Amino acid sequence: MRLLSVRLIVSLILGITLVSLSFSYYHVIGEKRALRADLERRAEVLGESLAGNVEKALGAGSNQSLQRLVQRFGNREHLIGVAVYDRQAQLVAITPELAKMLTSTPLTLTDAIHSDQDESSFLQLGTTSILIVALPLHRQDELLGGLAIVHDAGYIHAQTLRVWRETFLRVLAQVFLIVLITLLIVRSSITGPIARAAQWMKALRTGRISSRQEMPNLDMFRPLAREVATMAESLNQARSAAENEARLREAGESMWTPERLSVHIQTRLEGSRLFVVSNREPYMHQRDGKSLNVVVPPSGLVTALEPVLNACDGTWIAHGSGDADSEAVDAHDRLRVPPDDPRYTLRRVWLTKEEEEGYYYGFANEGLWPLCHIAHTRPLFRASDWQHYQDVNRKFTEAVLQEIDGTPSPVILVQDYHFALLPRLIKEKRPDARVAIFWHIPWPNPEAFGICPWQRQLVDGLLGADLIGFHIQSHCNNFLQTADRVVESRVDREHFSILRQQHRTMVRPFPISVDFTGDESAEASNHGFNYLERSSLLRGLGVEATFMGIGVDRVDYTKGILERFLAVERFLEQHPTYQGKFTFVQIGAPSRTHIKRYHDLLAEVEAEAERINWRFQGGKWKPIVFLKRYHSHSEIAPYYRAADLCLVTSLHDGMNLVAKEFLAARADERGMLILSQFTGAARELRDALLVNPYDIDQTASAIRAALDMEPEEKQLRMQRMRKTIREHNIYRWAGDLITELCEVRLDAAHQDAAPNLGVGMSAA
Ligand code: G6P
Repeated sequence: MRLLSVRLIVSLILGITLVSLSFSYYHVIGEKRALRADLERRAEVLGESLAGNVEKALGAGSNQSLQRLVQRFGNREHLIGVAVYDRQAQLVAITPELAKMLTSTPLTLTDAIHSDQDESSFLQLGTTSILIVALPLHRQDELLGGLAIVHDAGYIHAQTLRVWRETFLRVLAQVFLIVLITLLIVRSSITGPIARAAQWMKALRTGRISSRQEMPNLDMFRPLAREVATMAESLNQARSAAENEARLREAGESMWTPERLSVHIQTRLEGSRLFVVSNREPYMHQRDGKSLNVVVPPSGLVTALEPVLNACDGTWIAHGSGDADSEAVDAHDRLRVPPDDPRYTLRRVWLTKEEEEGYYYGFANEGLWPLCHIAHTRPLFRASDWQHYQDVNRKFTEAVLQEIDGTPSPVILVQDYHFALLPRLIKEKRPDARVAIFWHIPWPNPEAFGICPWQRQLVDGLLGADLIGFHIQSHCNNFLQTADRVVESRVDREHFSILRQQHRTMVRPFPISVDFTGDESAEASNHGFNYLERSSLLRGLGVEATFMGIGVDRVDYTKGILERFLAVERFLEQHPTYQGKFTFVQIGAPSRTHIKRYHDLLAEVEAEAERINWRFQGGKWKPIVFLKRYHSHSEIAPYYRAADLCLVTSLHDGMNLVAKEFLAARADERGMLILSQFTGAARELRDALLVNPYDIDQTASAIRAALDMEPEEKQLRMQRMRKTIREHNIYRWAGDLITELCEVRLDAAHQDAAPNLGVGMSAA
């Protein structure tokens, strides 16, 4: 480092000196030229003013008047003297000073007489440098002789020397200052930060800090800093994974981690690959002026599947719904994601506005969504939507077939109610594929499902799969009953399978979960409950309160947001001591607002919050803060950590991952979960305060109970619930699903069916 600084300084000095001297050299030369030209001009002017009179006196042969004449001009600035010569260059008159110096006729003068032209030259006369300007003298056209004007040019040299001296001093000062400033800049913005970064990396390597601890600011090396931070993150993850593995071995636990899932899938896939199909994509590209932004959509499905794909690579096929999505893909509509740390492939499928309208907004979200949730919003079934639904299912089938082309026995996980027809469509073309579909929303009883005019086609499409997954057993039971009623099949209730046209479909519950492994290093940064954090969060929202509740949802009529607000109102009514003290923060991401019901709901939720606030608010306090915008996971996390309670009051929900995310965030083992009994999560999280969200009084009492509960009791409940989600995390969900799918015996008729191994291989 020291050697480097010395080299840097020497190079700087040499460089700056060289550049400064070159500039100075040209400056001095220019100066010298200007001084000489000035002196020449002065001599010429003098010569011209003298010439007339000298010519007259010379013509008249009056040597005496010539002598007087030249002596009159003898004392001008820098002028040594003047001399007059005749036609033969013989001296006729000369000023005394010049007479002492000139011992012979100067060549310049002889040249001027011979050429009959003005001549000038700078000469060295002994130690004096002089300028001689010689002019020919005439009487009319006859050449009479010559006039020599001699100036002392020594001052030009002195002036040049002075400029050189000043330049030298200036260069010296410049070099000193530039080197000093450069060293200071280098030190403050390069060597200093690098030294701090090196210290940080050393501390990280030796395990004294976590990679989440901010890296020192390396502003000038931002790309490098990003890489180092990513590397540090990977290092940290690898270290904590290894520690976790060791801890698990030690404890004899069978916990699922990303590493375990990765190894598990590689073993199960036996060289094949994993493909996931969903409507919603994990990353959307959106244009904001000149920049391209990446957005993670608010979706339980994305929250759940992203860690799985991160752990196992593979391809995720989804609708490219971002307005700038097409700008980010390659010629095959693919890109590697996550954008910062690519680990798997995203294949985007494009839909027309009409297709999106009919298939997504129409059939999936105005038809199947309310049909399956039974949340008292009437399902709408339009023939045109159904047509689009079928077309889009075919379009996605094409994309899947392209992606799996060349992969023998691919494992395909189809997601959700958007793609009920996909399993059969895929299996018809690729019987060697192992296809599972996971239904993320509830499956209602056969009577409720029977409303759908195309129930037979939907059930038939699903039964193309080898495995159908639901969150909970009762959804599986409802599906078996529905299949029994609507299609010709043999339902095996003992083994939970359905045989239709010689194809067997297994039906199993797989409770979905969150990315939670109880990883020590993640927990360390997740420092938990903090009064300061809570009051600063609330202050940021313009509110002051002692207690805080939190709700996080897409604004959807199945989530029971209005019921929740009513419960907050009832709670404050029944327990006025909490007025001025308890604030409920509702984070609500607008969702599917293109559908009138959702659009209206957003306005209703806002109006309800306003009504309740108007009724109770006072000073800096209000009962409800409604944050009507999408919040990223990192924005939500501080609210989870700071809340006294989390309210999940869905009127009906397949699982509800908010409940599990809240628990995962509470490393401090404080806070309480109030959970609707109509969520899938309620089956697993028995230590939550379970409520019927339609019963406003009951939810209000649960709020009171959560706030009044003894800390020890809360901690015990929290510990048990966290254990549940740690042991049943998203890695286990994926591991179980894939294990089950890979254990399915493919139909005998298809087992020998040669898969389409791509154009190249077929040709061979
Ligand atoms: C539910 C569905 C998911 C979906 C999510 C968000 O949780 O089960 O499949 O991702 O809602 O809905 P959206 O329509 O915005 O994708």
